[in-house]
Amino acid sequence: MKVLIVGSGGREHAIAASVAKSTRVDRIYCAPGNAGIAQLAECVPIGAMEFDKLAAFAREQAVDLTIVGMDDPLVGGLVDVFEAEGLRVFGPRKNAAILEGSKAFSKDLMKKYNIPTAAYENFDDADKALAYLETASFPIVLKADGLALGKGVLICNTLEEAKDGVKAIMLDKQFGASGNRMVIEEFMTGREVSVLSYVDGKTIKTMTSAQDHKRAGDGDTGLNTGGMGTFSPSPFYTKEVDAFCEKYIYQATVDAMAAEGRPFQGIIFFGLMLTPNGPRVLEYNARFGDPEAQVVLPRMKNDIIDVMEACIDGRLDEIDLQFEENAAVCVVLASDGYPVKYDKGLEIRGLESFEGKEGYYCFHAGTKRDENGKFVTNGGRVLGITAKGATLKEARQNAYAATEWVTFDNKYMRHDIGKAIDEAD
Ligand code: AMP
Ligand code: GLY
Repeated sequence: MKVLIVGSGGREHAIAASVAKSTRVDRIYCAPGNAGIAQLAECVPIGAMEFDKLAAFAREQAVDLTIVGMDDPLVGGLVDVFEAEGLRVFGPRKNAAILEGSKAFSKDLMKKYNIPTAAYENFDDADKALAYLETASFPIVLKADGLALGKGVLICNTLEEAKDGVKAIMLDKQFGASGNRMVIEEFMTGREVSVLSYVDGKTIKTMTSAQDHKRAGDGDTGLNTGGMGTFSPSPFYTKEVDAFCEKYIYQATVDAMAAEGRPFQGIIFFGLMLTPNGPRVLEYNARFGDPEAQVVLPRMKNDIIDVMEACIDGRLDEIDLQFEENAAVCVVLASDGYPVKYDKGLEIRGLESFEGKEGYYCFHAGTKRDENGKFVTNGGRVLGITAKGATLKEARQNAYAATEWVTFDNKYMRHDIGKAIDEAD
């Protein structure tokens, strides 16, 4: 089989590594990919939003299956373009990817179908939003409606802050057109857990849980980033939490989408908060998490192609989804200054240390080869150093040991990825 993966980050490298394990696959392409993915796949210089070029490539190369890793092309309708051409593709159509693409849509869906989430109001008028704030209690959460690279969420402690936030989102358009509409919602407290799942339109199978660390600095300080590290499973995702989510959240979401005439096929990523009143949905994403995929996929026992094809064909109920009884930790090596300003083009040394090391993975996020063929940094998040272990603690030790194998100028990482594990003891 020939498989095309659309995307260029650590998540797509993890997907490519899973696809490479499939005995059914003999050729992998990635558009546009990165220097690490290029070790497993043939990278083609087509952007993820160049739908017609992607479809033409898939047709010309007789690609059997295309896997869309990123949110932008899903929300923009890449799957619809492929389907219209009779090309086989894994991911939700545009009318289902709206589950991630519009926070107002997802909040209304949860309200209509009684799926537990924070209380909220939607606004498309700044004056109404400002008036609403006058009687609200604080802290309060402001969310730009559309995709904003995970940055369109503001937690405001005072009325003043919240008013400035509404102005920034709706009037100054700090997050672009994403801010034409916004959600104002109740502030919740609790631990966050990410649960990814495969969905075939009617059946859902959840994967092992994970937890992300979004802030740039140790102790959850500093700016929000795309994710500085993850661990899996989350010890806070207990059997009781799972039973609650099975009953009120997972199938309910899939059924709600089907009832709305928007059957969802692909990955639903549930961003959950375990509040004192029980689990609540913080957000939905319509794709694997990055860097959640880096700790979840290496632990999956199934052939990923079998699972994805079952989703496309509506027979996910036949799949016995299984994960290893171990743990994994991913520590992101970033370029110092991320997520604001950082240098690129810095030589990366030591990547060969990962060769042949069972249970260790060096997923590339922002890397490329320079004109001399050397690996250099090419983004803020550079590598996702991942290791498995029998327990979370062992996985964490292994992952941090492996971060020492690689060096580049301005190398930056958090030192407390998975520290919460200790509190679970
Ligand atoms: P989202 O993109 O909706 O997941 O929001 C990004 C981050 O903002 C989440 O991971 C939470 O840490 C935080 N957040 C979002 N909504 C809420 C809320 N209602 N209460 C508290 N924190 C929130
Ligand atoms: N790690 C969070 C996300 O992928 O949205």
